[in-house]
Amino acid sequence: MTGRTAVNIKYFVPGPTELCERVLKATSTQVISHRSSKFREIFNEVRDLLAGVYATDSGNIAILTGSGTLAVNSMIYGIMKPGERALVISHGEFGERIVRALQARGCLVDVLRSKEGDVVDLNEVREALGKTSYRAIFTTHTETSTGVTTRYLPEIAEEAKANGALICVDAVSSLAGEPLKMDDWGLDAVSSCSQKCIGAPPGLSFVALSDEALKSLRSDGVPPYLDLQKYFEYSKDGETPFTPAVNIIYGLLEALRILVLEEGVEGRISRLGEVSEKLYSGAESLGLTPLARRDVRSRTVVALKLPENIQASRVIKEMREECGIVIARGMGNLREKIVRVGVMGYITSKDADAILEGLEIALRRVGGA
Ligand SMILES: Cc1ncc(COP(=O)(O)O)c(C=O)c1O
Repeated sequence: MTGRTAVNIKYFVPGPTELCERVLKATSTQVISHRSSKFREIFNEVRDLLAGVYATDSGNIAILTGSGTLAVNSMIYGIMKPGERALVISHGEFGERIVRALQARGCLVDVLRSKEGDVVDLNEVREALGKTSYRAIFTTHTETSTGVTTRYLPEIAEEAKANGALICVDAVSSLAGEPLKMDDWGLDAVSSCSQKCIGAPPGLSFVALSDEALKSLRSDGVPPYLDLQKYFEYSKDGETPFTPAVNIIYGLLEALRILVLEEGVEGRISRLGEVSEKLYSGAESLGLTPLARRDVRSRTVVALKLPENIQASRVIKEMREECGIVIARGMGNLREKIVRVGVMGYITSKDADAILEGLEIALRRVGGA
């Protein structure tokens, strides 16, 4: 035990991600009124840059003060009315959260569930859509609990249109980390957040809507803080209905300038892809198997199965104490069976080397290598 403090520990969990100096500095600028012209200028720039990240021209992006869950819940409450039917394509814990939020909204919910570490087969989705008509289809783009990414969103969007359904996506851990083209792919609602691939502090989240989804947005029975109609009413004038996390917006603006204007969204996606590839192949050399099937492996969440006799919490403790590196354990049934690395924000290839070295040391210490 080396007695590490928060200062000499580096976090590589699947969000929040560590910040770069420029973003940290930006968040410590003096607070201004959210009804001032300066705030409106900042807000409009944030929204325009976010539109580039989402690859949408619609400009229908609500910026909420709250974590990714707020964006996903607002999307669900805005799209669905009680009694309407939704199809959820669930790949793990976050898919199940969508199911529970839809049930809380009083919706009728059909669920297609994948095998662990896999996605639902597209033909199964087609079959379900051929049988029943839905108001909307919901899925996670990257399922953070298992490290899988749904790579057939454009195909589902096409099937959804034929069914008359809207296609709504939780892209909390994928936006700016996996290719996502809201307009080209025909997506109707996409939720995400500040603290993952974008590399801003936690505290803000977003819902982008197609024009069609915006037109049919619901407000009845929606708690005011989740009411997207209110956010869109105010955002026309560059404002938010409630007091926003002003300093986090400063940090988000800086992070978006770095992402969109300097590195480029494609550049970020390719850097994260290279880092995760290095982690997958390095982990395999250590005898660890990725949980996800090869073609659905996420670039942003690397989930690795541990040998039967090794508990994730022991590996994580050793890595933290011996190397000052923190990664995450699994969720739900996978809690002690896998470890997860967040490949987000400003992570580099050198970080991947340090993580692999940490894993090797930890596995040796707990008797797994
Ligand atoms: C896919 C997905 N959806 C939703 C959430 C919830 O986000 P938050 O913890 O920011 O509320 C997470 C968080 O990790 C996530 O990975």
